[in-house]
Amino acid sequence: MAELDEDHDYLFDFELVGHTDPFGLLLVSDAISSFQSRQVFGDSTCRNYQRMSYQSVMGFFRACGFEYGYAPGEAGGGSNYLPITHLDYDTLNKEAEEQCIAFGEAIELRSRRMAEVLSRQPDGDLCEALTYALREVIRNVFEHSGADQVQFCAQHWPSRNRVHLAILDKGTGVRRSLSRNPYLTINSDLDALKLSLMPGVSGKMYKGIKRRKHDTWQNSGYGLYMTSRLAVNGGNFWIISGENAFGVASERTRELHISEFEGTALRVSFDTTQLKTIQTKLKRIKNEGHELAKLFSGADPRGASLASTTIRTKF
Ligand SMILES: Nc1ncnc2c1ncn2[C@@H]1O[C@H](COP(=O)(O)OP(=O)(O)O)[C@@H](O)[C@H]1O
Ligand SMILES: [Mg+2]
Repeated sequence: MAELDEDHDYLFDFELVGHTDPFGLLLVSDAISSFQSRQVFGDSTCRNYQRMSYQSVMGFFRACGFEYGYAPGEAGGGSNYLPITHLDYDTLNKEAEEQCIAFGEAIELRSRRMAEVLSRQPDGDLCEALTYALREVIRNVFEHSGADQVQFCAQHWPSRNRVHLAILDKGTGVRRSLSRNPYLTINSDLDALKLSLMPGVSGKMYKGIKRRKHDTWQNSGYGLYMTSRLAVNGGNFWIISGENAFGVASERTRELHISEFEGTALRVSFDTTQLKTIQTKLKRIKNEGHELAKLFSGADPRGASLASTTIRTKF
């Protein structure tokens, strides 16, 4: 789409579209809607969409800018899914003010409600794990990206023991936000993506930044590390920003070069059978992270470059 010549009419034909996962829906709807908003003179229509009831309930077509199906967020979620939802900073901030709670807590509450819908349980290991993951990735959008909106959708397939989360923002991207940490050497988007998954690596917390003892919401550089570690047990974790996509699974990593994505997108796939005793798991992963982080706490340039080498071999 980025390479299309300027024209008056564009036709999106969905005839060949088969199975779509939540991440595909989110990424493609964002790409089509961005494309449409760039076309000052052009007009877009679509065809062969009528049979696509799942996508229409998920709010895909309306998120693209077509007048068909549910609007983002309209289906409300249920039966183990969260439709495409565009959540604004102002909405969350209002929720925080109304309940006299911290902004981070408002995100936590939202995440918990979403996790309950997906897991169909008010608590339990799956619900806890999803609350944790959703909270951390939604926080990141508002704490680091500069964007005033987070987009997400998700699906739980109980018979396959799978949960997919998709989160996207149109903010500054990982490379720029991590570059605020003066101890990191970042030569490419790929470097930044790898660093962002390391424990203790943050664009906002490094040597010289004062730790506020009572601020539970202060950044520590553990959100993406912990979330990705939870996912790679039987699932996988993809992060996309700028010119690269970086994927991690239990035994391997993958690096892709992509056409520029302005912002950050995540695709997190969980094997729900691996999320039992989640609190113990989180504690263990965190302790392992602390040990790893001692090697490259971002405290000095030497430590940082050690981080850059460690990430290439160890996940
Ligand atoms: N959505 C995002 N947009 C821009 N940068 C991000 C985003 N998510 C994560 N990052 C970058 O990755 C770093 C690591 O994230 P994380 O592990 O959650 O740690 P923390 O949020 O505590 O800094 C962040 O400090 C930030 O620089
Ligand atoms: Mg974070």
